[in-house]
Amino acid sequence: MWVMVSLAEDLKLALDRCAFARALGLEPDGWQEELLCSTSDRVLLNCSRQSGKSTISGVIALHRALYYPGSLVLCLAPALRQSQELFGKVLGFYRDLGRPVSPQAERKLSLELENGSRIVTLPGTEKTIRVFSGTSLLVLDEAARVEDELYFAVRPMLAVSSGALMMLSTPYGMRGVFYEEWTSGHGWERYEVSASQCPRISEEFLEEERLPPFIFRQEYECSFEETEDQVFTTDMIDRALTDEVKPLFGTGG
Ligand SMILES: Nc1ncnc2c1ncn2[C@@H]1O[C@H](COP(=O)(O)OP(=O)(O)OP(=O)(O)O)[C@@H](O)[C@H]1O
Ligand SMILES: [Mg+2]
Repeated sequence: MWVMVSLAEDLKLALDRCAFARALGLEPDGWQEELLCSTSDRVLLNCSRQSGKSTISGVIALHRALYYPGSLVLCLAPALRQSQELFGKVLGFYRDLGRPVSPQAERKLSLELENGSRIVTLPGTEKTIRVFSGTSLLVLDEAARVEDELYFAVRPMLAVSSGALMMLSTPYGMRGVFYEEWTSGHGWERYEVSASQCPRISEEFLEEERLPPFIFRQEYECSFEETEDQVFTTDMIDRALTDEVKPLFGTGG
């Protein structure tokens, strides 16, 4: 599908991200529409698997690069495969606009636009990101699985560039920066989207999905579960740490 747009239409797309998504052939789900209409520059998406979080982030990344000349949009994910997937979505949309993509861009997971904007996609580690100052939008996909160090490296960079930050993920245990920000971070706009809210995931599919209950809750119901390898549950640890419990043996005091 190729989209040819007039100048007036292009101006509309610049101002209206929902119209932009539709021009790309995507009819946004309710929460996606709400996100596209939002002007928040700190967004957390705690979403079910396959709910459309990477897709909508790809739309937002491309919109930023196209309509804010000179922008650096950085898309990070913990593993190369996940970065490639996200970049593939961005490229697909870009092609839908009738713009050619060089094989080199595909290879380098990096798209340079005529307006001086760049969309760079990387498997994120703290070392890879430090060279990218001046980021105007950072998208952290699978954020529950990125290293905490990466996040701590990113925050000051965004402060300097006044960049926007989107963290999107399916939960992965009661640990890590995504969990911390989701449960107690300040200044975030939060979106929680379970599988049952996604029109493309049927009730029958979910009923037939034979998974251990805690994995089902994690993958489809936005639930931060105790991590698999945790021998003691977080609750057990919290209780063990409470001041109210008297130690069995004297503390010498
Ligand atoms: N609004 C929409 N309309 C139609 N299809 C959509 C919409 N949003 C997403 N999709 C489709 O749903 C599928 C899953 O989308 P996407 O990969 O973005 O989900 P995800 O939440 O990132 O999944 P995962 O947890 O596996 O990474 C894709 O095929 C995508 O094209
Ligand atoms: Mg995804």
